[in-house]
Amino acid sequence: VRGVDIFTYRGEYDKGYEDLREQMEPIFIANWKMNLFEKEALAFVRDLAVPKTGSVIIAPPATLLFPLKQAIKGKSLALCGQNFFFEEKGAYTGELSASQLKDSGASYALIGHSERRHYFNESDAWIHQKLKSALAHHLIPILCVGETLDEKEEGKEEEVLSKQLHTALEGSDEKALSSLVIAYEPVWAIGTGLAADLFLIERGHAFIRKWLEKHYPAIATKIPILYGGSVNEKNAASFLSLQEVAGLLVGGASLAAPPFNAIIRS
Ligand code: PGA
Repeated sequence: VRGVDIFTYRGEYDKGYEDLREQMEPIFIANWKMNLFEKEALAFVRDLAVPKTGSVIIAPPATLLFPLKQAIKGKSLALCGQNFFFEEKGAYTGELSASQLKDSGASYALIGHSERRHYFNESDAWIHQKLKSALAHHLIPILCVGETLDEKEEGKEEEVLSKQLHTALEGSDEKALSSLVIAYEPVWAIGTGLAADLFLIERGHAFIRKWLEKHYPAIATKIPILYGGSVNEKNAASFLSLQEVAGLLVGGASLAAPPFNAIIRS
C-alpha cells in the first residue's frame, strides 16, 4: 500500500511518525458482530486471501469460535472474542470469561466497542475491569475508543478519547500493556457508510499516540493504533497510507470474503 500516488494527502499530524509504519505490519480485524452461521464462517475462512502484508484476525460471534479454532489450524489467522465478562467464573448466567474465550481459541478480545458501550451500557469502569481481566489471562486487548457525533460537534473529541483511555488503562502495569492494540473508531463512522476523513483519522491517531507517550512512554510507540468505521474496499488503501494507521477494524465489509480480501490486499 505504501507509495501509492493516488493518496496525496499528507497532513501535519503525520510528521514525526514516518518510521512508525515501517516498523508495524498492518493488522486487519474482521468484526462479524451478530452475523453469520457456521457454514458461512467456514466458507469465509476457505475463501480468505493472504494479506499483502500483516496479519488477519477474525472476531466471530462466540458460538463460532470453536469451529473456527479447528478451521484455522495451519493457517496464519487468529481469533478474537467480541465480548466477555471480567469475573473468573461463577453464577453469571449468559456470560463467558476471558479464560473461556482463550479455551475457545481466541487470542485477542475486543474491549470497549461502541456497540457494547451504547446498547449494553458498558461503562468505562467495566471496560477497565475487562482490560485487567484480558491482560491477566494473556488475551491481547483491542481497546476501542471514539467520540459520538454529539461529542464531535461539541469539539470534545480529545476530552472523550483521553477519558476513555485513562479509565480503561489506569493502574495497569506498563510492561503488561505492551501487548495492547488500540482501535480509533469514531462512533458516527461505524456502520453509517460515512468513514472519517483522513485528516480526522490522523488527528485522532496523533492524539492517542501523544496521550500514550505522556502516560506510557516506554511502550507508546509499540502500540498499534487501528482505524475502524465504514472501512470498505474503496477507502481501505487510503487509510493504510497514513503513517499512523497500523491496521483496520472492519465490520460490514468483513461479512464475506470478497470485499474483505480486497481490503487486506489493498
Ligand atoms: P463498520 O463497523 O465497518 O460496519 O462500520 C466497524 C466496527 O464496528 O468495528
